[in-house]
Amino acid sequence: MSFPVERPRRLRQSPALRRLVAETRLHPADLILPVFVREGIHQPQPIGSMPGVVQHSMDSLLDVAREVVAEGLGGIMIFGVPRDKDAVGSGADDPDGILNQALAQVRDVVGDDTVVMADLCLDEFTDHGHCGVLDDRGAVDNDATLERYAAMALAQADAGAHVLGLSGMMDGQIGYVREALDAAGHVDTVLLAYAAKYASAFYGPFREAVDSSLVGDRKTYQQDPANLTESLREVRLDLAEGADLVMVKPALPYLDVVRAVAEVSDVPVSAYQVSGEYAQIEAAAAHGWIERERAALEALTSIRRAGAQQVLTYYALDVPRWLS
Ligand code: PBG
Repeated sequence: MSFPVERPRRLRQSPALRRLVAETRLHPADLILPVFVREGIHQPQPIGSMPGVVQHSMDSLLDVAREVVAEGLGGIMIFGVPRDKDAVGSGADDPDGILNQALAQVRDVVGDDTVVMADLCLDEFTDHGHCGVLDDRGAVDNDATLERYAAMALAQADAGAHVLGLSGMMDGQIGYVREALDAAGHVDTVLLAYAAKYASAFYGPFREAVDSSLVGDRKTYQQDPANLTESLREVRLDLAEGADLVMVKPALPYLDVVRAVAEVSDVPVSAYQVSGEYAQIEAAAAHGWIERERAALEALTSIRRAGAQQVLTYYALDVPRWLS
């Protein structure tokens, strides 16, 4: 019988010691708040499956943008919910469309005090709900979609977005959009590639948040949850095409992917704690089954620990309050 020589507990004995040796810290500057803005409403509308998250009116969006600046968050990612949808998502590149209007107004309010990001995808704008345009057989047409993305990118850059988040998972989208932006003189517009985006059940509540009309699934363009190597290929291609940032999405069920991408990427790696991850915590907390704040902070810390430098999270504005 011998007592231990090594005593790891020694460094855990007080809050001060634990704080001293913490390897990972959450900081508001690493967090990005995703927000939804809906055309034609004057009061924010609750989203049933995402308690505490709303579809913003233009006015309430501008208020939240000011809060993002006041709390020192890294950025705000804007998703538009248009009133009218059509087959090609015309609202997406219309300068008067809800998303481009929101980008312009938010940029006016925040200037360069936080990073204004645009979701660059067609699914919120198409009546069929897919992330691209369809061919005559009803399949998503990759190359025709690239032309739509380029038009969208120009409209978003013109509106003042600092960062475009390409979330559609079309082949060649980063290179195609980069070329279009550069040709128009938008050489400083940053491209965030949703490099490794999985066809995930955890986007469920998001579909309600953007009034999605999708029937079916996105498995012909988003990745199979079974695959890791494929993510490394997507990251390699996006980096070669000029991605400035790469993202893994969802986050918590894919921490191995976050880690693997962080090991090979020479640009910052982001991760998106998606709507279903948020809803899981909220639902369990509402039952009193887990502690909301602790669970949220633990999940976010784990995402950072796995190697994500920036985290998109619906908790972004809660975190500064929790940490103080
Ligand atoms: C596509 C997009 C989606 C999400 C972000 N961008 C939905 C999808 O791919 O089906 C999901 C985000 C979330 O669930 O919080 N525009």
